[in-house]
Amino acid sequence: MLLNMATCQQPERKIFKKLPFEVVDPKENEFPKLNLYGKDFVFVGPKRYFQTGAYKELGLGIYNFEARPDDVYLLGHARSGTTLHGEMIWLIGNDLNYEEAAKNFIMYRFPHIDLFTFHSRERIKEISESEDATEEMVDISGKYLEMTLEGLAERKGRRFIKSHLPLSLMPPHMFEVGAKVIYCARNPKDMLVSYFHSFDFFLMKNATDGFKDYFDDFNNDLTWNCPYFEHVKEAWERRNDKNFLFLFYEDTMKDKRQTIRKIADFLGKDLSENEIDKLEDYLSFEKFKNNKTVNHVHMTKIGMAEDVSRFIRRGKPGGWRELIDEEMEREFNQVMEEKLKGTDLRFPET
Ligand code: A3P
Repeated sequence: MLLNMATCQQPERKIFKKLPFEVVDPKENEFPKLNLYGKDFVFVGPKRYFQTGAYKELGLGIYNFEARPDDVYLLGHARSGTTLHGEMIWLIGNDLNYEEAAKNFIMYRFPHIDLFTFHSRERIKEISESEDATEEMVDISGKYLEMTLEGLAERKGRRFIKSHLPLSLMPPHMFEVGAKVIYCARNPKDMLVSYFHSFDFFLMKNATDGFKDYFDDFNNDLTWNCPYFEHVKEAWERRNDKNFLFLFYEDTMKDKRQTIRKIADFLGKDLSENEIDKLEDYLSFEKFKNNKTVNHVHMTKIGMAEDVSRFIRRGKPGGWRELIDEEMEREFNQVMEEKLKGTDLRFPET
């Protein structure tokens, strides 16, 4: 897209009156085995991304979101290490301001543009207005309620914005203004098992009798933000773009310092070896697990989650062996091979 060189301004932003792709309700034979959403979900766009019913109301606003050139976006499927990388990015982007990081939970510092597609705004409002709400609950729920699209638009200073949406459902404007975009991917088998455990955290444990149902739904692209391989492929195709950084969780687990340097480089920041030492230590699994600004304990305080040990949980590659047996592995590998045909994307083995 050409810039107006005389004024050096960005071209006028295109505002979409409707989404340039379809949002389709499921048919009777298209329900997942897990009853997580009832009938309240939709298929979005040509790849049929599985979204909650709230997407119908919020999708266009997200797509039309006005980006700023100094924004930083972090994308990735849930359970791909996005909290870890989010904290790393936030700290590097904020000149290692640990004091500021300690003041607020990460979801508030690095808000989700798609937050209210997966958390009910009404429910949070109820919590904030409840007569039994403690001061802490009012504070936490009040912060959630600020994280609307309007709230994000009003934020001052450099914005750090996260999303589990695939790139094709994100605002195209973020690319047009040259904002920095980072994508974090993870071995899909580990992600899947990690996701399954997170049902216990997100109060969804009664949704399933066992892992196999979730495994089947995933292979049939009937879980949130699936088709997973398309999600990652969209980002992989951009991995060499100037303002795009593609990361694997496993690479960070092998060498956190290297990821720290990559991100610093990408955001144009210089870090000394001492600063890297300190950040690496701060991001260590044990410290992270006990760090209440990143371990999502805030969600338990407002009754939206429990058993915080399920969020920052195992913290290393290879967790898939807990739940995926040989037969499932064979099936999974076949599905993966099929879905990765025609691309050189390959996930790290764990
Ligand atoms: P496991 O469930 O396999 O342990 P997300 O933040 O995208 O939801 O990803 C969650 C996964 O990242 C979980 O994987 C979690 O334990 C892991 N994780 C979070 N913080 C970590 C850290 N500091 N070091 C290693 N892994 C971490």
